[in-house]
Amino acid sequence: MISEPAPTIRELLAFYLEAGVDCALAEEPVDRLAELDAPPQTALQPARTIPQAERARPLAAPAVIRGEAAPAPDVAIATAREAARTAPSLDALRELMEKFDGCALKHTATRLVFADGNPQARIMFVGEAPGRDEDIEGLPFVGRSGKLLDRMIGAIGLDRRTAYIANVIPWRPPGNRTPTPQETQICLPFIQRQIELVDPDVLVTLGNPSTQTLLATREGIMRTRGRWFDYDTGKRSIRALPTFHPAYLLRSPSYKRLAWQDLRAIAKALEQKPS
Ligand code: URA
Repeated sequence: MISEPAPTIRELLAFYLEAGVDCALAEEPVDRLAELDAPPQTALQPARTIPQAERARPLAAPAVIRGEAAPAPDVAIATAREAARTAPSLDALRELMEKFDGCALKHTATRLVFADGNPQARIMFVGEAPGRDEDIEGLPFVGRSGKLLDRMIGAIGLDRRTAYIANVIPWRPPGNRTPTPQETQICLPFIQRQIELVDPDVLVTLGNPSTQTLLATREGIMRTRGRWFDYDTGKRSIRALPTFHPAYLLRSPSYKRLAWQDLRAIAKALEQKPS
């Protein structure tokens, strides 16, 4: 049998990155292989006392992973609702979200990804959650799917000076995993308040999670896309149109034709007088 050479650190890191492991949850690595190699301790074999100097430094796991920081989801949801409701402006909302500690995602993300674009825009796009590039830059939709979103909105004469872009979840889920229903419910009051403060004439939900969360529907994107909904801010009703998420279009380009129909419907709606 020909033995494979041991992978280099670079190869190992590339392997982990491809598997979606692209952020550290603790400051010190744990050598699980060394733990396996250690001789099992039996009742007859008194455990060796490890001298202080040999002991691994305690893991600096984020507080939420130690189970200290995150309040129960219902408390976090109530706190988020109350905080969001009282934010008088987008700046105030951003500031209180920076301070909000009720969502575990905040502790694994690099930073808050609040929004990009023009808060005075007549159109607002809402995606699901930031990915790796957004987490690094602190802006929504700057990675590959963001480039496609820019091209999509460019096709109807819009750009980030004439549109406003945000996500339902403002902190990147580790390894881009799907946010849990609790995380979504905790973050929901923030995006709802953001929509209320931007008060666009047209709201575009990008993909299933954003559509189902904001428009309170259980139907899938194949049924909802291209159909107008009413989004109620509590003060007024905003026309809302679901369309495909650009990341989905990158994987399934044949649906770009339908996305184009949605974009034309959006352009037509914007031709109408501002409400
Ligand atoms: N996907 C999203 O839903 N939002 C982003 O900001 C980036 C990718």
